[in-house]
Amino acid sequence: MDPRDLIVQEEFDRQAERWFRRQLSPYERAMLEQIAQLAQVGPADRVLDVACGTGLVSFVLAPYAREVVGIDISPGMLAKAREIRHRREVRNVHFVLGEAEHMPFKDGEFDVVVCRLAIHHFPQPERELREMVRVLKPGGRLVISDTVSSEDEREARLHNALERLRDPSHARMLAPTELVHLIERIGVRVQERLLQRRDRTYDDWMDVINDPIRTENLKIVMEELARAGRGAGLRLRIEDGQLWLTHTIAVIKAIK
Ligand SMILES: C[S@@+](CC[C@H](N)C(=O)[O-])C[C@H]1O[C@@H](n2cnc3c(N)ncnc32)[C@H](O)[C@@H]1O
Repeated sequence: MDPRDLIVQEEFDRQAERWFRRQLSPYERAMLEQIAQLAQVGPADRVLDVACGTGLVSFVLAPYAREVVGIDISPGMLAKAREIRHRREVRNVHFVLGEAEHMPFKDGEFDVVVCRLAIHHFPQPERELREMVRVLKPGGRLVISDTVSSEDEREARLHNALERLRDPSHARMLAPTELVHLIERIGVRVQERLLQRRDRTYDDWMDVINDPIRTENLKIVMEELARAGRGAGLRLRIEDGQLWLTHTIAVIKAIK
């Protein structure tokens, strides 16, 4: 196992309870539904949800699909995913413990592969993306959704540093053009690309982190950046006494 994978496991095992209790906003729900629509999941499709966490994407795709398989490296996140499956009595979703870089699936097993909010955790994302393409059948759809950094190198460096202070399992958010170029290199044809903005308060962003010391200290740093007019590629700002930020999310659909 990559030594960084241990950091991811430890971090998400600790975050799992908060992900489980999280109430999705209508905007977040709409973003999940959009992944299902872009992937054009149908009743004959076997779908793979890479780095599925507590299964937020898997459960949205399940009603459209024949079967959804979620894979994740964190036993804590998967335990919560299985608890939700049991509670909701969802029969066509299965969860597998494993690494995105070496998945226990055969070549071309899946009609659709999706991966949301995880590329930025992979230290060498090309390795995981190639693995996703390997398990996708020819003509299959790949949908990648991830938060991206600014195209400006200095802003991107600062943004990524802040994200790593929030969550040490964060490797690097790519700039949108970098992510598209990477996907174009792995043997698929990019068909659609969208950029979305997501406004959040600092407290909402930090909620899943579940670490009061990190939350308190990073807030001091980010408030000072906001006051100094440094947006850090996140449009950091203080409005009505609250610290706000805006993430940019890239959603890319490609065909094998
Ligand atoms: C921010 S969460 C996103 C979960 C889910 N995709 C969603 O949209 O709600 C990132 C997930 O990626 C998983 N992860 C990170 N690196 C991984 C790897 N190398 N292999 C498998 N899972 C990984 C983490 O355990 C975590 O559950």
